Amino acid sequence: MFRDFIRKTRLPSGVDGDLRIIEVKDLGFKYAGTDFYAIKEVNLEINEGEFVILAGKSGCGKTTLLRCLNGLIPHFYEGEFEGRVLIDGVDTRDCPPYILSQKAGMVFQNPDNQLFALSVEADIAFPLENLGLPREEIRDRVEWALKLLKIEELRSRSPFELSAGQKQKVAIASVLAMRPKILLLDEPTSSLDPISAKNLIDAIIELNRKHRLTILISEHRLTHLIPHADKLAIMDKGKILYFDEPRKVLKEDVLMYGVSIPRVVEVVREMRKIGGCLPFREVPLSVDEFIRDLRGVLR
Ligand SMILES: Nc1ncnc2c1ncn2[C@@H]1O[C@H](COP(=O)(O)OP(=O)(O)OP(=O)(O)O)[C@@H](O)[C@H]1O
Ligand SMILES: [Mg+2]
Repeated sequence: MFRDFIRKTRLPSGVDGDLRIIEVKDLGFKYAGTDFYAIKEVNLEINEGEFVILAGKSGCGKTTLLRCLNGLIPHFYEGEFEGRVLIDGVDTRDCPPYILSQKAGMVFQNPDNQLFALSVEADIAFPLENLGLPREEIRDRVEWALKLLKIEELRSRSPFELSAGQKQKVAIASVLAMRPKILLLDEPTSSLDPISAKNLIDAIIELNRKHRLTILISEHRLTHLIPHADKLAIMDKGKILYFDEPRKVLKEDVLMYGVSIPRVVEVVREMRKIGGCLPFREVPLSVDEFIRDLRGVLR
């Protein structure tokens, strides 16, 4: 029955021919017991397969926005909800969370909240068992998810004895086993050392590039992510101030919004201020791009 409902409420593709998988219209939310909007007047359109970074100071509303996208708001958190959120054509207010979690899977900042079984395999299988899937299908999906995250060797380990980075990968695998089209990640690298963080980010980038998974990631460490992102959203005080290609957003003065931009962007900006004419047509997003542009001029 729900399938029919979803089919009926599916929106047409975006005007540019891409499928609009996330559509947020005039969204606002006040948590119960508070007298301010945690997010306000949020409008967002994301196409299938896009990789989007959500950045901004602590408390600006990133987690709240992600909660709205997977239906935790309004189904779990109480409060005043305004506007609407369409996920894969379905209004989150009309759709139960267990259906939404198969469309938009969320990985939380602290993976310990998501892992509870005695083995990694059992943890990944648990939500699938809850869906009542046949045994064989569950086994196939667990294998697929373990392979996707390259964590096959962890299958029999207890999630509690894993490193923070390994735990995050298991949490992502268990969300992906639900086969969502959208992966929402809330500061997944915040408890990781720089090398484990880069390793996890590489895995996330691969999921987007190879498997066309739509990804929305809230993150403070932008350096490694930025060159791969299609869009960068900058939030402040519950509102989205910028939402565009990273190169365009980084032309703006965004440092004041608590965004740690790649050092190379800062260098080029400062050079522009003092030197006027520079060889770069655009802001280079990585050291590799910077060197390539420089080589082009020096040749
Ligand atoms: N469960 C809740 N009940 C009441 N207020 C909340 C709740 N969760 C968040 N808030 C408030 O909503 C606002 C936005 O918080 P949110 O957690 O979305 O910010 P954030 O950008 O994710 O911050 P951080 O970078 O620290 O994770 C803050 O003022 C916060 O105190
Ligand atoms: Mg947060």
